[in-house]
Amino acid sequence: MDALELMKNRYSCRKFADEPVSDDDLNAVLEAGRVAPSAINRQPWRFLVVQREDGLAKVDQASRCRYGAPVVILVCFADEESAKNEAVVPDYGWVDCSLAIMQMVLEAESRGLGTCIVGAYDPQIARELFAIPEGITPVQFVMLGHPAIGPSPRHEERRPLSDILVRESF
Ligand SMILES: Cc1cc2nc3c(=O)[nH]c(=O)nc-3n(C[C@H](O)[C@H](O)[C@H](O)COP(=O)(O)O)c2cc1C
Repeated sequence: MDALELMKNRYSCRKFADEPVSDDDLNAVLEAGRVAPSAINRQPWRFLVVQREDGLAKVDQASRCRYGAPVVILVCFADEESAKNEAVVPDYGWVDCSLAIMQMVLEAESRGLGTCIVGAYDPQIARELFAIPEGITPVQFVMLGHPAIGPSPRHEERRPLSDILVRESF
């Protein structure tokens, strides 16, 4: 599958099958995150992987958007690392995490897995339940599993390029 086709096939999966994700698949998804680009190669990420029942129950306390996913990755960054040399290059922790997330999501898609990036969660609850220390900023959850449902109608709603494209100058 070519890259554009892969990107167009990806959608936010909001119902996952009761089927485990293999270690091979999970490791490949994490590897895709690990090799993501980051500002001045700071690699400030922390990938918190939650698979045990008690952990998944904690995710459900922090967010209503797990959708039955058997694997949850909370993508975080270490503040000190993302701020290193901040005088020269700004803190891009959120950007670095976003790029790692997107690589993970596309690797998952290429393996026939479904994902949903989830920002609707209570960071304070997540911090308490997962013992996230000061100095680590949680960014987004990635819900991961075998899809049990296709895309929502909204998946097709994309603005035409003419709406968002600016050539040469505003
Ligand atoms: C930063 C970010 C946060 C999101 N948060 C949620 C969320 O909390 N719950 C959810 O169901 N989907 C969430 N989504 C998925 C978007 O709603 C979805 O990408 C968008 O509607 C387009 O649909 P598609 O991904 O199926 O193409 C999020 C996506 C992004 C990029």
